Amino acid sequence: MMEIGDNGRLWVLGGRTSSYALHLTDRDELLHLHWGPRISLEAAAALAREPLAPHWPFESRTDGLEEYPVEGGPRFVRPALSVRAGETRGTAWDFTGSDVEGDELKLRFTDPATGLALTLHYRMRDDFDVVERWVTVSSQLADGSLELLRADAATWTLPERDGWRLSQLHGRWAAESRLVRSGLTPGEKVLGSRRGHTGHQHLPWVALDAGAEAAEESGEVYGCALGWSGSWRIAVHHLPDGRVQINGGAGYDDSGLMRLAPGESYTSPVFAGLWSGAGFGGASRQWHAWQLAHVIPRAGKPRPVLYNSWEATLFDISEDQQRALARRAADMGVELFVVDDGWFGARTHDAAGLGDWSPNPTRFPGGLKPLADEVHGLGMQFGIWVEPEMVNPDSDLYRAHPDWVQFQPGRTRTEFRNQLVLNLARKDVQDHLWEQLDGLLTSAPIDYVKWDFNRCFTDAGWPGEPYPQKLWVEHVHAFYALVDRLRAAHPHVAFESCSGGGGRIDLGVLSRTDQVWTSDNTDPLDRLAIQYGFSQLHPARVMAAWVTDSPNTQLNGRVSSLRFRFVSAMAGVLGVGGDLTRWSPAELAEARDWVALYKEIRPVVQLGAQYRLRPPDGGLGAVQYTRGDDTVVLAWLQAQHYGEPPPAVRLRGLDPAASYTCPDTGTVYSGAVLLHRGLATGLRGDLDAAVFRLRRT
Ligand code: GLA
Repeated sequence: MMEIGDNGRLWVLGGRTSSYALHLTDRDELLHLHWGPRISLEAAAALAREPLAPHWPFESRTDGLEEYPVEGGPRFVRPALSVRAGETRGTAWDFTGSDVEGDELKLRFTDPATGLALTLHYRMRDDFDVVERWVTVSSQLADGSLELLRADAATWTLPERDGWRLSQLHGRWAAESRLVRSGLTPGEKVLGSRRGHTGHQHLPWVALDAGAEAAEESGEVYGCALGWSGSWRIAVHHLPDGRVQINGGAGYDDSGLMRLAPGESYTSPVFAGLWSGAGFGGASRQWHAWQLAHVIPRAGKPRPVLYNSWEATLFDISEDQQRALARRAADMGVELFVVDDGWFGARTHDAAGLGDWSPNPTRFPGGLKPLADEVHGLGMQFGIWVEPEMVNPDSDLYRAHPDWVQFQPGRTRTEFRNQLVLNLARKDVQDHLWEQLDGLLTSAPIDYVKWDFNRCFTDAGWPGEPYPQKLWVEHVHAFYALVDRLRAAHPHVAFESCSGGGGRIDLGVLSRTDQVWTSDNTDPLDRLAIQYGFSQLHPARVMAAWVTDSPNTQLNGRVSSLRFRFVSAMAGVLGVGGDLTRWSPAELAEARDWVALYKEIRPVVQLGAQYRLRPPDGGLGAVQYTRGDDTVVLAWLQAQHYGEPPPAVRLRGLDPAASYTCPDTGTVYSGAVLLHRGLATGLRGDLDAAVFRLRRT
């Protein structure tokens, strides 16, 4: 809902529980008024009438108040927009009008000196608390080009509080999205990626609460998340007066996004913001609901249980071996069988073949179709792994087109994992990849593509191109366009975003993929912390998790029960990734039971409201999912001490007056007791876990 007042110079966007208000002063300054619980248009108008606080000679009148502070004029805060037009630096904006289209508000400005036009976009959907913001900058100059150094998607302004605490999700390869909270001190805290992809180091998200006032299920929490899969930056600025502003957009620094020729424009990614009065859990549930409704494609359809042999076989694959694994997987109840790396070109190890997207003739003499048909015959969907943006120097593609990669003349072409990055900003590379991938999806009945990205940008040059800097942004646009075009041409195919595990997880990629590979770390214990962090922003519906072998082969040799591994992976989109040829008949039978149970609880886990009941650090961790009358609780005990039973787990969001029955045991529980005293898990020893189902009766 949007309300407009003050002769079209005051706007109040209304969501499920919150409002966002802004206004234009009589000097055409666009100032922030309110972001928090719902307020009326009258209350916003009263805020707009309040005089600005007096400012000292060393301060700006509007620093900390502006919706979109730019470089230029009397401002000292971090600018969201920075341009160079000949000798002119910075911009000064005249308001030219506003438009409302459905739930989108557009505010238009022009800068006479540079001939630039700027549009600020806002969207808040009635049933959600997320505000989506982005900008468009276009050049109206008749001649001459203009350099856009930086154009953040938005600046978010938080109210004055006694202090602020910052939550972030940090990590590295095999250790992504771990939650850390710390007090914010005056100055700037900058998160981002200068790697060309979203990166394992930070999910592009921050949350802020006033000191330690917020808890998991109470208190005021602000969150911001960026929808961009290239280099990015979020800067959290704690201003001297206690206010906080948060800028976010594409590009790590201000070294240039693109040149705008007359008539050209740049549209930033979306930087979404959320206010919740219901704590960190309430904020997460709002983020999840919004992504399920408006970001993730086909989100209402639960994802199938998949099998992937990567950890079991690495590059050593053959058609017969994959058939044998497929039969065991089908027997276990798996619904999607995925052939990972090693099926194409000369790719029998990681130093050759990347870029040559036709089946290896020795390994798959008849192509992929015979295996795909057999997999379909077993009642499963068929998927494959690809990494289209990369090339091994030892490949037919690189031998034919050594100039198709990012490189700088006279410099080393740095290799990671023996591979180079294709320059996707080039039209010939885009056309080639489209032909290869469209041909591949037409050559065999493929239902699913795991799309990987296994190295960062390093020598991001583009010889011959006058403005090579633009490839950082154009690579991402080309990647998006390729996925979009493939999805349109092959609408039944689902896509997973992978980047050495969780190196490309953000709202931009999630708006065009069906799920993400959360981490290459499949250790079921480490995974609980990674999943706990992931859930701060993204729903279980996209969080792929595999049950692999014990001892863990990839990272740490940890020994854990099949029960613990399954219950850990059942918190997201369940997959199996162990060497099934070495699982005993008893293990295969147990796995079949877990898969069957997962299919029953899947709609609740993947689509339900998620309550993080207890963090997974050290002792007992638990997560609850509730959808309609159904509730599922997953609980994990890392280590029991002194023989003491772990504490009862207090449930959330239930009706205290209702009764809940466990369909497995027939036990009837009172809602009030589950909420107040909690559920005794009966877990004991080390690495124990259980699934509890409850149905409102
Ligand atoms: C990446 C992925 C793995 C696997 C390998 C294959 O590391 O994260 O799951 O697909 O590539 O090379």
